[in-house]
Amino acid sequence: MDRQTLRLALIPGDGVGPEVVAATVPVLEAALTVQGVALDLLELDWGGERFLRDGAAMPVDAADIVRGTDAVLFGAVGRPDVPDHELVWGLIIGLRQQLDLAVNIRPVRSFPGVPTQVRDTDGVDLLIVRENTEGEYVGAGGLAHAGTGADVGIEVAVHSRPVIERAAHHAFRLARQRSGRLALVTKSNAMRHGYPLWDRTVREVAEQYDDVELEVVLVDAMAARMIQSPRSLDVLLAGNLFGDILSDLAAVLAGGMGMAPSANIRPGGDVPGIFEPVHGSAPAIAGRGVANPAACLLSGALLLEDTGHAAAAAAVRDALAAALLDPAHHTPDLGGVATTADVSAAVLEEMENLR
Ligand code: NAI
Ligand code: MG
Repeated sequence: MDRQTLRLALIPGDGVGPEVVAATVPVLEAALTVQGVALDLLELDWGGERFLRDGAAMPVDAADIVRGTDAVLFGAVGRPDVPDHELVWGLIIGLRQQLDLAVNIRPVRSFPGVPTQVRDTDGVDLLIVRENTEGEYVGAGGLAHAGTGADVGIEVAVHSRPVIERAAHHAFRLARQRSGRLALVTKSNAMRHGYPLWDRTVREVAEQYDDVELEVVLVDAMAARMIQSPRSLDVLLAGNLFGDILSDLAAVLAGGMGMAPSANIRPGGDVPGIFEPVHGSAPAIAGRGVANPAACLLSGALLLEDTGHAAAAAAVRDALAAALLDPAHHTPDLGGVATTADVSAAVLEEMENLR
């Protein structure tokens, strides 16, 4: 058998990041070993501690370092003693932009046996495609009259047609592979420039996908619908801000932040993707070994799929689903008493059983 190798960069980061990454790596390694694939790990100490030491969360050549690998597994950044924007911008948003990772894919699926705070979530299976490089998070703007007591914060949202188009094409391709339904989320009644451009552009792209049914939904209505009838939804396409907010909402349908994975990728581009749980560093529970590793494990499965290891990806997902059927493998966020390490061990065991 060919001895293939997957070169994986690890950025565990801060808080629960290192805990969930440590629970995930052995699972990915086991799934790849079965397929005859070796894992070559590059562990990077980027994040809050490095920021406090060096004044920067990552080195200036960070994007080049990442380009030398096949994919990145990222935990989370954020610590109470560092302003959030230094780490979020100085690391994860910075990397997404430098690598031009055009879309953020956030699948949400309910798992049998996993309790949720929203009623009747069985069979929820939706996927948010979030534009990842501009919109409200483009970083344009400034502060005027700073420090005078009459400070003015100006945050400019940027929406450009080519960027909307590439996110839209990816969303239509995914919708085509799934149920054939796509909902575009905008707010064109109150915002008169950027979101109407989204509506027009996506409707034009839709003409190339006549097998996909497109609907355009205002973000506030979508928030209600996600709770009221989540099964009426399949693929959602949204800009940066709305995609971010709706994906936390969607995570609740699957059991909370501990269950929501994501992938930052450039479709068709020759650049490694960054795969990360949607959640942050969860400082309140960090250091206790009780973070739910499911979101990170599922991000690992997305990583395996994206790097061409679909069988290994399926093995991770199936083993996690099997482990979660038993409440003994639920961490406190799911109402259980399992530790992060217990869940990892249970997933490894199920992977062995399912072989
Ligand atoms: P958060 O996602 O860290 O926590 C939100 C809630 O979910 C908390 O109650 C937390 O305990 C819970 N939670 C999160 N992950 C969990 C897990 N794996 N298992 C069980 N429970 C979990 O979001 P928050 O509190 O808004 O932010 C905390 C820090 O993380 C901040 O510094 C923020 O800037 C940063 N952050 C970083 C992100 C990233 O690195 N991509 C994304 C979001 C926030
Ligand atoms: Mg978020």
